[in-house]
Amino acid sequence: MTRTLLILMLAMMPVTAFLHAESGLPASTETPAERDARMAWWREAKFGMFIHWGVYAIPAGTYKGMQVNPRMDPKTLYFSEWLQNRFRIPVAEYADYAKQFNPREFDGDKWVRLAADAGMKYIVITAKHHDGFAMFKSPASPFNIVDASPFKRDVIRELAEACAKHNMKFGVYYSQAQDWHHPGALLWHGPWDEAQAGDMDDYLDRIAIPQIRELLTNYGRISILWFDTPQVVNPSKLAKGTLGITPDRARRVLETLKLQPGIIINNRLGGGIPGDTGTPEGFVPNQMPKGDWETCMTMNDSWGFKNGDNNWKSTGTLLRNLIDIVSKGGNYPLNVGPNCDGVIPRPEVERLETIGRWLKVNGEAIYGAGPTPFGAEIGHYSNTEKDKSGKPAFITTWDWRATTKPGKIYLIVFNWPADGRFLLPSLKQKVRNAYLLADPKHANLKSVWSGDGLMVSLPNAAPDAIASVICLELDE
Ligand code: GLC
Repeated sequence: MTRTLLILMLAMMPVTAFLHAESGLPASTETPAERDARMAWWREAKFGMFIHWGVYAIPAGTYKGMQVNPRMDPKTLYFSEWLQNRFRIPVAEYADYAKQFNPREFDGDKWVRLAADAGMKYIVITAKHHDGFAMFKSPASPFNIVDASPFKRDVIRELAEACAKHNMKFGVYYSQAQDWHHPGALLWHGPWDEAQAGDMDDYLDRIAIPQIRELLTNYGRISILWFDTPQVVNPSKLAKGTLGITPDRARRVLETLKLQPGIIINNRLGGGIPGDTGTPEGFVPNQMPKGDWETCMTMNDSWGFKNGDNNWKSTGTLLRNLIDIVSKGGNYPLNVGPNCDGVIPRPEVERLETIGRWLKVNGEAIYGAGPTPFGAEIGHYSNTEKDKSGKPAFITTWDWRATTKPGKIYLIVFNWPADGRFLLPSLKQKVRNAYLLADPKHANLKSVWSGDGLMVSLPNAAPDAIASVICLELDE
């Protein structure tokens, strides 16, 4: 069999084909119905918390007076968690940050309550990011929070326990390929230190796979394993032996998933493995993507805590994103970057609190809701304007979005009509009842058919400054 053919076949095989390979079961025994059952909680959840936290919270984006900078540095290099790579900080020197890492204010229970109050249904935290520092007690490497920091507490354990207590799904991000500390791993823009030289398979066998096993064994239920950066950006700069995640390496990593039946993985393992979820990063796709997907996003310009980065997205933007994403069938894991004391920055907390208040009133239109039955409300391709790649630009419209549940359509209105009339042009079914979710009495709003579509009469003032939800109950 040719190599290309093999890679192609591997790419087409579902994850479970590997999972069952050694158990003697026929390849790919997961039926579509079983897959639906495995993904069910995730598809309901819609809103999650991503946490980027590690020793990079100590330098917080600054090294020897130089700050990572979104205006000057290409993407990733201005993220604070990329500091070591950006400034090519020697391995031993960077490891010294761990000796200062003592986040006394860390309170896992408080973080989980914050997420729950924000209406988030799952948490994914960086168990090990590209800097190689494990936020858990790891027999596989002493470069971990219990053995290498004065803090000595297992953050993953504390958060896992708090999640179990509050019925919050718990997942871990693990940088399986890229690791700037342990020899042999994948290095973007590297290597820059002799200590990084080594063999990728050795690294996988001695560090990554054992650590993934630790995570999947020692912390109760792990609902998500979030991989990242499986291959290099520029192969010509590759250190010998570091090819990234090949199909064979991916297969070895996938073996570990047997430890957590029902686990969900993203599409960043590499080796042609599609994974369960697509991961657009930092943007919401214009069109509705196929399959399960989630847009992960920062609230400012960095995933890890970055001192002085006050480029906060407004609560309105974040909430509109959540609604936009759900109307296109996706999930929204929104990031927080706690500081070196273990405190989630106030602007992030405030945004989450406001979104949580909105979801308490309007969550019915979000959790477990299906995508829009329409589509034209999202926007259109311009006949005249071009995007950066020269293709017709997509002009997004921000008047309203729609989601659905059996027998119901939710119209989520951003731009409250000044004349008190909301026109829905493309509705096929008859409407039995129309009301605002913000109205506790669910008083019927007058709705009439005109030649142009369904016209709903609304009160003069929008119930919510950012987004108000009209529920249409359909006659069927
Ligand atoms: C990236 C970056 C990173 C961040 C992540 C989140 O690819 O390398 O620092 O963790 O994606 O999606």
